[in-house]
Amino acid sequence: MSGIRHFLTLLDFTPSELEHLIQRAIDMKQEHRAGNDQRGFPGAVLAMIFAKSSTRTRVSFEVGMAQLGGHAMFLSPQDTQLGRGEPVEDSARVISSMVDIVMIRTFGHDIVERFAARSSVPVINALTDDYHPCQLLADMQTWVEHRGSIKGKRACWVGDGNNMCQSYINAARQFDFELTIACPPGFEPDSQLLAQNSDRVRIEHDPSTAAAGVDLVVTDVWASMGQESEQQERAALFAPYQVNAELMSRAASDALYMHCLPAHRGEEISAGLMDSPDTVIWDEAENRLHAQKALMEMLLLASR
Ligand code: CP
Ligand code: NVA
Repeated sequence: MSGIRHFLTLLDFTPSELEHLIQRAIDMKQEHRAGNDQRGFPGAVLAMIFAKSSTRTRVSFEVGMAQLGGHAMFLSPQDTQLGRGEPVEDSARVISSMVDIVMIRTFGHDIVERFAARSSVPVINALTDDYHPCQLLADMQTWVEHRGSIKGKRACWVGDGNNMCQSYINAARQFDFELTIACPPGFEPDSQLLAQNSDRVRIEHDPSTAAAGVDLVVTDVWASMGQESEQQERAALFAPYQVNAELMSRAASDALYMHCLPAHRGEEISAGLMDSPDTVIWDEAENRLHAQKALMEMLLLASR
């Protein structure tokens, strides 16, 4: 299946491709707002495989494909043979023989890799336990819209060393910024990933020190999907890691803060920051639509 491009992590695209993609997302947002017809892919079908819950990802991909002139199909393991043990590889061969592009949200990252290896059409990672690259497209678009290039800037991740944190490590590398990670000891991201990016990513367990002078502060839930049983235990350990006005006062005076959502007000982020009139968090959520339209356009054009 060589020649087919997939988007499983940010490392699947070059920095220059990512830069173009973000610019295209910004342009497509303006075109959409101007009421332009964006139906460049009539009849194209996106298969959306969701093994985990979603609001933003489902709505943005389904709406995005409709706006591109195609159709999106929701598939869950509960209602397909995927949930009854049909091998991922066999499912990939069959599903990709009928659709034009596939989006998967699941648990193990190996599942999207195995699916992509047998898919005859592009596969997009819409979140695994390890990475959430689509969210980073939206985050980077949001940064560029509000502040211009992120090259050389300083970002701080506060909270769990989870799939979003690991995607920020890849983003630091691909978009050329520095990243400090403030996580409780024992909740660091993958050590190999850290070692590979030690030139621009470092751990600083104290959030106040980590946030000093940074341009961007980012957080996410303390217990991700699949970790619900750890919620209480984590809440106690993560309590000093809340992104709030006090922490933001440590950052640069024009610093932005982001959250991929869904958020827990009073846990990883204060209600004050969530409900602030000048937060960019809602732009960040909306940009999932525009960034993924640009992503699907790029992958569909490449597979023609
Ligand atoms: N941020 C994000 O991926 O949201 P959903 O889980 O609602 O899709
Ligand atoms: N880290 C979170 C992100 C949700 C969009 C999770 O995996 O549940």
